[in-house]
Amino acid sequence: MSIINMPRGTQDILPSESKKWQYIENELRKISSNFCYEEIRTPMFESTELFARGVGDTTDIVQKEMYTFLDKSDRSLTLRPEGTAGAVRSYIENKLFADVIKPQKLFYIGPMFRYERKQKGRYRQFVQYGVEVIGEESPKIDAEVISLAYNIYKNFGIKNIKVSINSLGNPEERKSYNEALIKHFEPRINEFCKDCQTRLYKNPMRILDCKIDANHELIKTAPKLLDFLGEESLAYFNKVLQYLDELEVKYEVDSNLVRGLDYYTHTAFEIMIDNPEVELKTLCGGGRYNGLVELLGGPVGEKGIGFALSIERLLLALESENISLPIDNNIDVFVVSMGDEANDFAMKLTNDLRLANFKVQNDYFDKKMKAQIKLADRYNAKYTIIIGETELLEQEVAIKNMANYEQEKVQIKNIKNYLENKLRGE
Ligand code: HAM
Repeated sequence: MSIINMPRGTQDILPSESKKWQYIENELRKISSNFCYEEIRTPMFESTELFARGVGDTTDIVQKEMYTFLDKSDRSLTLRPEGTAGAVRSYIENKLFADVIKPQKLFYIGPMFRYERKQKGRYRQFVQYGVEVIGEESPKIDAEVISLAYNIYKNFGIKNIKVSINSLGNPEERKSYNEALIKHFEPRINEFCKDCQTRLYKNPMRILDCKIDANHELIKTAPKLLDFLGEESLAYFNKVLQYLDELEVKYEVDSNLVRGLDYYTHTAFEIMIDNPEVELKTLCGGGRYNGLVELLGGPVGEKGIGFALSIERLLLALESENISLPIDNNIDVFVVSMGDEANDFAMKLTNDLRLANFKVQNDYFDKKMKAQIKLADRYNAKYTIIIGETELLEQEVAIKNMANYEQEKVQIKNIKNYLENKLRGE
């Protein structure tokens, strides 16, 4: 029979890799908790309408990349392509806006799905960690969110990163900016790609973000959004930058940064790998979305900001700087046993030690002593306990430190204490 392969753009995370994922996820949970963010878990599929309205009809995500299907009752559902729309939906549906703590500071870790062209760091199922701060607005919140994203990478030891930041202003400011962009590009729009031509009237800002036409002179000479911001938006943005300076976040203002989702207003940012040898640079993206709660049917005036990063790209960033994670591949003890009675005893001892919170393995197949020692090595056991008939008779076993091969006799009733001292004594 032929084998069935995994779908294109997905990956199996095997045990040697999954340890890295667990480590990263634990670190992300820890740092979230230090910043006082709490976990929210929303469904992996939602009504298609949520993303069409929330992420935006003209975006690549909604137009080309969604996994949309009809369920058996003919409802149109979509595997979530991102986490913000679901988090905001949940915020509204569960009336989190009425909570005494405001803003609500949420984080999530989970798979997202986009039908994208497979390439390094780009998958059709990928895991995003993201945060959303919903309810109130303050430049302090913007700076906190950006600093959290930035420090996640710093925390893993990644050095060559920078934050690109821009302000997309409010809808009125963006409207006059869009008009200026249309005027700027219209006379020569036929020199641009097909996508840009359709973007011109629907979403002209996206032309600035086009990968194909990135070097066209009109992109370089395009009007700058920051010049269209009113006093209030500009003051807000400058305050965010001031806080970023104070928090020692390295950033660069990039007036062409537009982001690919429609819900953004004011602060928008991305974190990039700052290394010319790495092709895929964007690690993380986010920004403020002050109109989204209202757009999804929630109370007027509720504001939000957040970001998301994928663990796949975080792993790429680690790889690009040759950083290996401090992963413990050892087990505490391998129990070696010879003879029927000792084998039975080893089974019981293994279980007891496991229940006392040690990582322990034994031999299942009555292997020879040498083979068992070899297995203990394969498991990277810190200690082996050797039990034979004599040991049972004398109620005393040999415990061997596998790092230096020193061996000590220990009474059976003292094994737990002995291991406790050796493994957790420091
Ligand atoms: P996004 O820029 O579409 O924003 O995605 C955020 C991050 O998800 C990217 O920077 C990248 O690390 C990762 N990512 C996206 N697509 C893929 C893929 N196909 N394979 C691997 N990684 C990928 C959002 O999703 C917004 N919801 C972020 C946000 C939260 N804005 C406000 N709150």
